[in-house]
Amino acid sequence: MGEDAVNDIKRVAVVVASTRPTRICPGISTWLQRELRSAHEASSPVGLVQYGSIDLAEVNLPFLDEPLIPALGQYQHEHTKAWSRTVSGYDGFVFVLPQYNWGYPAVLKNALDFLFEEWDDKPVTFATYGTHGGSMAAAQLQTVLAGLHMRELDDHLEIVITLDDLDRDWQVKDLEAVLAPYREHVRRIDRQLLDALTAAEAPITH
Ligand SMILES: Cc1cc2nc3c(=O)[nH]c(=O)nc-3n(C[C@H](O)[C@H](O)[C@H](O)COP(=O)(O)O)c2cc1C
Repeated sequence: MGEDAVNDIKRVAVVVASTRPTRICPGISTWLQRELRSAHEASSPVGLVQYGSIDLAEVNLPFLDEPLIPALGQYQHEHTKAWSRTVSGYDGFVFVLPQYNWGYPAVLKNALDFLFEEWDDKPVTFATYGTHGGSMAAAQLQTVLAGLHMRELDDHLEIVITLDDLDRDWQVKDLEAVLAPYREHVRRIDRQLLDALTAAEAPITH
């Protein structure tokens, strides 16, 4: 592959946005990343999008502790500079998050609030999950992503995980079976990401 082709490759992060010690989020995120990769390999043999992952438990940010507002980009703490470099290294994002008490996890809001320009104008979508799919977490997150001037794709996932799907330790008994119905939807998301990442960049006016 030539240098130009390598420069054209877009990087998308699948973000694990639950940090609980017994979280089910990594399993769902790994499945999603794998399915996005295989959908992409099937539709774009030259591989225009590379799917990576970010685990907010590993990023391990404190609560927002920068003295200046993030929109100024004048970060004082090394953890913020490191987070800025990580986010700047990706062209698009797929957040994977549970619904908590009709909202989305505070750890994700905190990670979003730490930065500003780094999110600006980048394509984004997400997968929520909960006993009814997490639509209320989705609605809240959509508002914040618009506030950050991100480009939300047409499609996102709302994954239904009922109590019957869980074992006595609150882990998903058969993750493949629970997630299989969403496979076609993941293909659509890969195509929408590719379109958004390769589209001419029109300015956002809101
Ligand atoms: C603080 C908290 C609040 C929750 N609120 C909801 C909720 O509003 N709706 C829902 O369907 N499930 C709710 N649940 C259940 C979660 O969907 C379930 O625990 C899931 O495993 C959480 O994802 P995680 O394990 O990756 O953190 C809640 C769980 C926690 C820990």
